[in-house]
Amino acid sequence: MRILSGIQPSGRPHLGNYFSMMKRMVEYQKDHELFVFIASYHAMTTVQNQTELREGILNTVLDFLAVGIDPKKAVFWVQSDVPQVTELCWILSNFINVSQLELAHSYKDKIAQGINPNGGLFFYPVLMAADILAFRTDKVPVGKDQKQHLEFTRDIAERFNRCYGELFKLPEPDISEEVAVIPGIDGRKMSKSYKNAIYLFADEKELKKQVMSIITDSKGVDEPKDPDSSVLYHIYSLFLNEEEKRILRDKFLTPGIGYGHIKQELYQKILDYFSDFRKKRQQLENQIDDVMDILKEGAKKAQNIAEEVLEEVRKATGLKYYG
Ligand code: ADP
Ligand code: TRP
Repeated sequence: MRILSGIQPSGRPHLGNYFSMMKRMVEYQKDHELFVFIASYHAMTTVQNQTELREGILNTVLDFLAVGIDPKKAVFWVQSDVPQVTELCWILSNFINVSQLELAHSYKDKIAQGINPNGGLFFYPVLMAADILAFRTDKVPVGKDQKQHLEFTRDIAERFNRCYGELFKLPEPDISEEVAVIPGIDGRKMSKSYKNAIYLFADEKELKKQVMSIITDSKGVDEPKDPDSSVLYHIYSLFLNEEEKRILRDKFLTPGIGYGHIKQELYQKILDYFSDFRKKRQQLENQIDDVMDILKEGAKKAQNIAEEVLEEVRKATGLKYYG
């Protein structure tokens, strides 16, 4: 089974990205054909600064390798190094209507925020469909916010297939209910763009500040606290097994422990959890030439696969009029 997912390098990866997508991708790589890429063109819809985009790409690459993507097992590349995908994006844009693109949450949300969206943002779901369909993907692990984009992808593939035959596989979204929407420190969905994220590789000072800022109600030490409505409980439980979750629940429900104490524990837990990854990241930073080789190799493999699919598309559509 072929599994593919991407992440935008529009900032540093955070716990929402990690638990809903990155961690699951690393697990899948053991016994599946895995494709992972850095969605540089998608990030460009919001990041239009050279330094910011370059650093965003590099940081996201390093984070992903540090948490366990193994380039010997997975194909790992940067989206803009595989031009076949943008070619397919243009072709696919003819198989979705403007009225449907206008319904995309990613686009509608910007309008609701009073932002005048650019053309790239409007086309965002079509590029995402191209990312997925160019590799004949079976399954796409994502968070819940991407569900609609997967529906668009399936619609586009179906419309294309109706015209030209069963060229594209219909991909399945793979959303894990437990981690479908991870809250940020303010209780809204954790996101790079809301400034409410806890980053995987924040330094100790920054991490402490972020964890200590997690929103809570005003219950005091001597009052029982409700775990189910607590953002702190939700974030902490990402790091726990069932037995540990039960113990944490008891701490919430039994008077005697304050939120500050629980936050201190969580801070330590996050540091411990990412400590080996942090060492790996440091090593990678010192071998940046090797990292570049990994990306070049990944882009070559991805290009070869996408080129085969594109050749079929060019023939089927009549774009290949010669030979
Ligand atoms: P962001 O929304 O922070 O910009 P991306 O758009 O790059 O992050 O998302 C990369 C992956 O992480 C996607 O599969 C997305 O669904 C998932 N994701 C992002 N934020 C969250 C969250 N708060 N909870 C669950 N999944 C998330
Ligand atoms: N749009 C996705 C996000 O913001 C990133 C992405 C781009 C993606 N292309 C993809 C995810 C293809 C899965 C498959 O999270």
